[in-house]
Amino acid sequence: KSESRQHNPKAAFVVIANRLAVERITDDDGEPAWRTSPGGLVTALEPIMKSKEGAWVGWHGAPDETLEPFHHDGIDMVPVPLSAEEVEEFYEGMSNATLWPLYHDSVAFPEFHREWWDAYVAVNRRFADAAAEVAEEGGVVWVQDYQLQLVPQMLREQRPDLKIGFFLHIPFPPQELFQQLPWRREVLQGLAGADLVGFQVPGGAANFLRLVKDRLGYETRRGEFVRPDGTKGRAGAYPISIDSQGFQDLANDPATIARAQEIRDDLDAEIVFLGVDRLDYTKGLRQRIRAFGELFTSGELDPEKAVFLQIATPSRERVEEYKRLRDDIELLVGRINGDMGRIGRSPINYLHSGYPRQEMAALYRAADVMVVTPLRDGMNLVAKEYVACRGSGDGALVLSEFAGAARELKQAWLVNPYDINGMKQAIVDAGSAPAADKRRRMRALRKQVFTHDIDHWAETFLKDLGLEA
Ligand code: ADP
Ligand code: F6P
Repeated sequence: KSESRQHNPKAAFVVIANRLAVERITDDDGEPAWRTSPGGLVTALEPIMKSKEGAWVGWHGAPDETLEPFHHDGIDMVPVPLSAEEVEEFYEGMSNATLWPLYHDSVAFPEFHREWWDAYVAVNRRFADAAAEVAEEGGVVWVQDYQLQLVPQMLREQRPDLKIGFFLHIPFPPQELFQQLPWRREVLQGLAGADLVGFQVPGGAANFLRLVKDRLGYETRRGEFVRPDGTKGRAGAYPISIDSQGFQDLANDPATIARAQEIRDDLDAEIVFLGVDRLDYTKGLRQRIRAFGELFTSGELDPEKAVFLQIATPSRERVEEYKRLRDDIELLVGRINGDMGRIGRSPINYLHSGYPRQEMAALYRAADVMVVTPLRDGMNLVAKEYVACRGSGDGALVLSEFAGAARELKQAWLVNPYDINGMKQAIVDAGSAPAADKRRRMRALRKQVFTHDIDHWAETFLKDLGLEA
């Protein structure tokens, strides 16, 4: 239960993210209440938040609503309000129709609008002010993701006593793309306000350092940059991960095992291919579905024996490019099923919905081959979740080279998602690989995912930032 009275005025450890770590639910008595968000970030930071009397600064998800700080499950929640116009301009606009496509290789056309930028600056300022207010003298603040890139420098100006970390969950683009951004200097200066700037892969850190040198004229050396006032910051790679043990335990729960069997029975197929993604144009869904369509049409996959189950989570539904994507995907799936299906049997099983974590674990358990083929992805946690749920040591992962996860999950069937023939071949190979080959690969994948879990990620970053647990 949330208790607003117990809110602490000051915190030694502050996380700032676009979204607060709680979501609104209706409790058993029909009353509105908060539930801790199921994401990995919250799970990883929970112990440290509790031991350091931490605060979480974030938007609570509803427009035009101002809420007082409250205490929930050991963490102080500091809600930041956004007006309906700011949701449009800062969240849907600048964050998700400018920065998101630009940072993902421009796989959709980024739009540049000056009023979106103004809203981005204003909202970043509000987040920085809220954190400056709640952080105690000499405290540690950890800023998350592309929605809040100006916050580090804004905070540094107001509160030079703080230790500031920043982590970018999405890719950081090469100079050739980044320099399209009309506000490139401001964004670089914003990020360079952090003492430690973390990226998913070393390439992101290298892109950032090169830009800081070329565009801002800062001296850089061995992962360090020097600001004009002589102070220094660092940039490096900290690949994020999942609660591997938590997923494994969930997958081994008898209720999950029973549910996985039920899913298999319902699908009634010899081989199940699975895709799980937010319905986002970076995820390579158009190419993936086309590949499956061709495999079913050519008979390389037999529609009587194989099924492709695609879960597409609704996301950013008011942004134009996302609406277009949904229409395209549903047209493609409808066509393939119309051509290749029969009464009671569709080769592609497409669901547009979110599910509880246990259902996700059951789906991973039920799938013979997991197909993760983004055109560009900062990390891709779904790939790691699948691996964590395969305690039996079997299963196969087809993974895009362009996901951050490919650097760690090298024993997957790696594909270039733009090469449809190559992707088709990898899907067929993974589906027909000998059991011993699959087990050998899965063993190596599991070793990586269990030695590099979300705790490892948070501990490594915070240690480098100078926070001892
Ligand atoms: P992104 O951050 O771009 O959405 P990731 O693969 O890194 O991509 O993370 C997605 C997260 O969302 C995973 O933890 C996954 O389990 C969860 N998820 C994806 N689809 C669903 C869904 N339909 N229902 C519930 N959770 C989902
Ligand atoms: O990983 C990128 C990210 O934008 C996260 O910041 C966010 O929590 C997730 O994807 C879902 O997106 P949104 O918060 O826009 O619904």
